[in-house]
Amino acid sequence: MSNNDNKKVVIELNDVRRNFVMGEEVVHALRGISFKIYEGEFVTIMGTSGSGKSTLLNQLGCLDTPTSGEYYLDGVSVRTMSRSQRAVLRNRKIGFVFQNYNLLAKTTSVENVELPLMYNKNYSASQRREAAIKSLEMVGLGNRLYHKSNQMSGGQMQRVAIARALVNDPAVILADEATGNLDTRTSFEILVLFQKLHAEGRTIIFVTHNPEIAQYSSRNIMLRDGKIREDVQNNNILSAAEALANLPAPQDD
Ligand SMILES: Nc1ncnc2c1ncn2[C@@H]1O[C@H](COP(=O)(O)OP(=O)(O)OP(=O)(O)O)[C@@H](O)[C@H]1O
Ligand SMILES: [Mg+2]
Repeated sequence: MSNNDNKKVVIELNDVRRNFVMGEEVVHALRGISFKIYEGEFVTIMGTSGSGKSTLLNQLGCLDTPTSGEYYLDGVSVRTMSRSQRAVLRNRKIGFVFQNYNLLAKTTSVENVELPLMYNKNYSASQRREAAIKSLEMVGLGNRLYHKSNQMSGGQMQRVAIARALVNDPAVILADEATGNLDTRTSFEILVLFQKLHAEGRTIIFVTHNPEIAQYSSRNIMLRDGKIREDVQNNNILSAAEALANLPAPQDD
């Protein structure tokens, strides 16, 4: 009996394929991907350039649909949905964190974080503001609520992006090279935050080139040529907080 037996399945892929037709040629970007991701898992998806990571992430994020196969997000079949249905599902169920933050420039943290709630009729303006502030406090930015994106560091901008991803209480957080633009220390600070969210029971999928990140997650899926090459549990999750504490002190010269 595995320890996932009682857990809720958040994501299920059954033999997902994605072909791109390029003139006479067909590119097989995903060649039959199947897996289940359970609530509370912190999964890294890795693989070399061209192995299909972005194509897979676009499927998971409901930004694209498979050529064949099934995708269930929180029990809902995505394949047969229209583009606008997918947009609603995406807005409600998924929090995105990108390498380049994707914040609105010259816009305050609270306003950036409120954005995913703008289309949600259940929130009044003051409830939106309240939720955004709560989310920013969760990522340690309670003191940067009214700073604009261009007045913050990369690590702070990524925290705002994570607060924005959390504000809707999504079923899953999808991160695409979320530490890719950050220096080592700041990358670890962001990893500490992801591990905190994991400890709180959030479901996280983190796509990355960087094999080091896998050591901080609970499961690693490795792609090669559009197929799963390896899918393993990590029973020895390292602490990002510890790694951060052990980094050599920054030189001020
Ligand atoms: N829109 C598209 N049209 C045609 N071919 C595509 C398209 N998107 C991706 N591909 C092809 O599918 C394969 C997988 O691409 P993908 O972008 O998913 O790789 P990746 O793992 O994200 O690589 P990287 O690490 O370089 O970002 C590649 O061979 C790529 O050329
Ligand atoms: Mg890519």
